[in-house]
Amino acid sequence: MQIEYRPDSYREIACDVLAYPVFEEDVSGSSLDSLGKTTRRAVKAVLDSGEFKPELHRTCRILKPAGLKARYLLLVGAGRKAQFEPARLRDIAGTAVRSAKSCAAKTLAFLCRGDHPAGLASRLAAEGALYADYESDIYKTRDREQRDIETFLVLLSSKAAQADIREAIRRGMILGEATNFARTLSNEPSNILTPSQFASRALSIASQAGLIAKVLEQEEMEKLGMNTLLAVSRGSEEPPKLIILQTHKDTGRKRTPLFALVGKGVTFDSGGISIKPADKMEEMKADMSGGAAVLGAMAALAQLKPRHPVMGLIPAVENLPSGKATKPGDVVKSYLGKTVEIINTDAEGRLILADALAYARTLGASHIVDIATLTGACVVALGHVNGGMMGTDQRTIDRLRNNCRITGEGLWQLPFDDEYRKAIRSDIADIKNVGDRWAGAITAGKFLQEFVEDTPWVHLDIAGMDLDHDGRPFSCKGATGFGVRTLVHLLE
Ligand code: BES
Ligand code: ZN
Ligand code: ZN
Repeated sequence: MQIEYRPDSYREIACDVLAYPVFEEDVSGSSLDSLGKTTRRAVKAVLDSGEFKPELHRTCRILKPAGLKARYLLLVGAGRKAQFEPARLRDIAGTAVRSAKSCAAKTLAFLCRGDHPAGLASRLAAEGALYADYESDIYKTRDREQRDIETFLVLLSSKAAQADIREAIRRGMILGEATNFARTLSNEPSNILTPSQFASRALSIASQAGLIAKVLEQEEMEKLGMNTLLAVSRGSEEPPKLIILQTHKDTGRKRTPLFALVGKGVTFDSGGISIKPADKMEEMKADMSGGAAVLGAMAALAQLKPRHPVMGLIPAVENLPSGKATKPGDVVKSYLGKTVEIINTDAEGRLILADALAYARTLGASHIVDIATLTGACVVALGHVNGGMMGTDQRTIDRLRNNCRITGEGLWQLPFDDEYRKAIRSDIADIKNVGDRWAGAITAGKFLQEFVEDTPWVHLDIAGMDLDHDGRPFSCKGATGFGVRTLVHLLE
């Protein structure tokens, strides 16, 4: 999809569809800003007839609108103006794309509305357009959704410097493409996306985007004593990989922060010997979505060029039962030296993250953010609306919470009192890998905290956010790419 800025008037744009967001307030008032008399009259007539209510994501197409060169005028419900957060603009640009696709349009012009700065608005429109254009039916040999929008034109009512708008669109496209890249990885079945395949895709995107990349092999991990990570992959024929990425080298100035992003990369989680029930087990092919978010974010950051370098680590493994698999009650010594009693082999994410987090510190990380589809308990607590957020770096947590307005990715902070640690005391080793029934998302966080020690750290539990089971007006079913925008906005 080509995305371009057009400074021309909307009336002059020859396109299949011209999309115009409509607020609920437009029904009674006479706002309908940035429209000329003829078009305004046409829109008003539709609103007055009551056949179209501009609730969020509702749409209405007007064929051959008077005074326009567009074939259709597409009204897109934008909800209440007072609630028009930046993230909503991204989503309704996406709704416009999917609605235009359904009428086989090739060229779509989108007129941005709202009070957001022109740069932000055009960036979000570009992001939303690419996100909406993505389809997850990659393995269909028939009946694929093949209708693509070829050109998406961004129109703005406010006048801003053209170069700034074009740069904003470029940045939006980088982020949109990185998010779709992460979605593709999560949608891949586990027979295709094995840990080795994950590593080779990481190396190829790294060379395209300009990232420094390296993969630690099983032998090296054995030498380093990464036994909690290795305990998870033992049952599988697929060798584990530890993917390590960096945007660029430090300039050598002292005391610059070095953020490390650490993403859970379990390419399939059967539970291991503590095997999961069959129902919905297929969804565990997406248990590497935290890792995919880190890889997508790193690819975007390499192109967006943040001031300080950023590191990415993805422990990639497959969790299966076999004669060689780790068994409940086994004890292993982690890379950091702490011993862990593995009570439940299905609590594997925290085991691979334990070694990756400790290794991030060895590599010089001054701040760490990890992202993982870690616990069903987090889904019970927050549903599919917010990811869980906890940790010791309150400044970063506050920033992440604030950014939700722009990223549209909900995150909610969970309590993290020291007292929760009691649940993971072991009788035989330093700690055990599960607590009791209660506060499972938090006790998992407490387990991870043992391995970051005093490094400022945030843990994002995105179980429940990685997959969309229903599809939305602005996106298809399947992997969401959740976390890419969150991580990029934080570090950009
Ligand atoms: N990958 C799962 C968590 C998960 C659940 C992700 C639902 C997405 C949707 C994780 O490895 C897991 O199995 N966690 C266990 C932990 C338990 C054994 C303490 C869980 O949540 O049941
Ligand atoms: Zn598990
Ligand atoms: Zn898992």
